[in-house]
Amino acid sequence: SPLEIFHQQICECMACPLGQSRTRFVFGAGDPNADLMFIGEAPGADEDKQGEPCVGAAGQLLTKIIEAMQLTRDKVYICNILKCRPPNNRDPQATEIETCEPYLQKQIELIRPRIICTLGRVAAQVLLRTQTSMGKLRGTLHAYQGIPVIATYHPAALLRNAQWKRPTWEDMKWLRREYDGVEL
Ligand code: URA
Ligand code: URA
Repeated sequence: SPLEIFHQQICECMACPLGQSRTRFVFGAGDPNADLMFIGEAPGADEDKQGEPCVGAAGQLLTKIIEAMQLTRDKVYICNILKCRPPNNRDPQATEIETCEPYLQKQIELIRPRIICTLGRVAAQVLLRTQTSMGKLRGTLHAYQGIPVIATYHPAALLRNAQWKRPTWEDMKWLRREYDGVEL
């Protein structure tokens, strides 16, 4: 697929220093023609080891969330803003985001999802080019190049703050309704 060709073209990227420190390049996973795309922040330790996005504890919660929406991971597409792990899970730096973001843009172009769900503040702020807080970004249908975007909390944040589970679940029910509306 064009997506896999693109993956092969960029998987040895050394355009920022994270190329030196990574174990695996984490391109993304799922259906190359998915209607629904989840975008997280960056690989963590588990993802860096396995080369797959969202496979650690937070990723397992994301799997449950996807399944609670009556979908499976292989029917959606999951990737991150950064393709390589920032050391010690620190926040992505502005230059890393700038360097890596064209890869995400190309993925979105090739997959052409009909709706995007960003996971956590960083993914939402980068994709939507805003500094608005997570709390304020929730609950509004945003857009990225004409594609509807719903911003919700990061599953890792739900593991730390159980009080965000209910609002996230409300977001996911809304996401499922929007997805059903555009699926045809
Ligand atoms: N957190 C993310 O945002 N992405 C991953 O792939 C793993 C954890
Ligand atoms: N299902 C729930 O009950 N809560 C969540 O946060 C996600 C899925």
